[in-house]
Amino acid sequence: MANNIILIGFMGSGKSTLSDWIKNNYNKAKLDTDDYIVELEKRSINEIFATDGEEYFRKLETSVLKRLLDDNITDTIISVGGGLPIKEENGMLLKKLGKVVYLKAGVDVLVNRLKNDKSRPLLQGGELKEKIENLMQKREKIYEDRADLIIDTTGLSLKEIYNEICKN
Ligand code: S3P
Repeated sequence: MANNIILIGFMGSGKSTLSDWIKNNYNKAKLDTDDYIVELEKRSINEIFATDGEEYFRKLETSVLKRLLDDNITDTIISVGGGLPIKEENGMLLKKLGKVVYLKAGVDVLVNRLKNDKSRPLLQGGELKEKIENLMQKREKIYEDRADLIIDTTGLSLKEIYNEICKN
């Protein structure tokens, strides 16, 4: 198994924030699957969803994971889109890529972080809390099943979260 740390969790759970922090403080390599896709496609996630739909985006996610494995990516903090772990095939690919860490965050925290966000197509229009709760209900168990380590991030600093990852 490659020596990567994979951060999974709901939109707004802090995956990118944590990986940026680790990169800046420990000089580790980091990679984000959404950024990778945006670079490949040369358009935003919103544009991809609007033009080609979610299904197409999910195919891109799987192909990115395969590429990372083919490229033998190692020693990297990899943050992945919130919906990526849901597909079973992706679950297997994640396991091969490294240690899967689920950053768990409460719905109220997520609502607060996402309330002004315009970059996540799945959360636009309608009642935000309801959307988050519905998606979370479908996803939570899968996140837990995919994870080698589950961290309840409530009240934890980035350093405390990272320490948890390192000691487990
Ligand atoms: C999605 C999460 C987003 C992005 C896309 C779909 C999801 O990534 O991949 O908008 O289905 O949860 P973040 O989790 O980084 O926001």
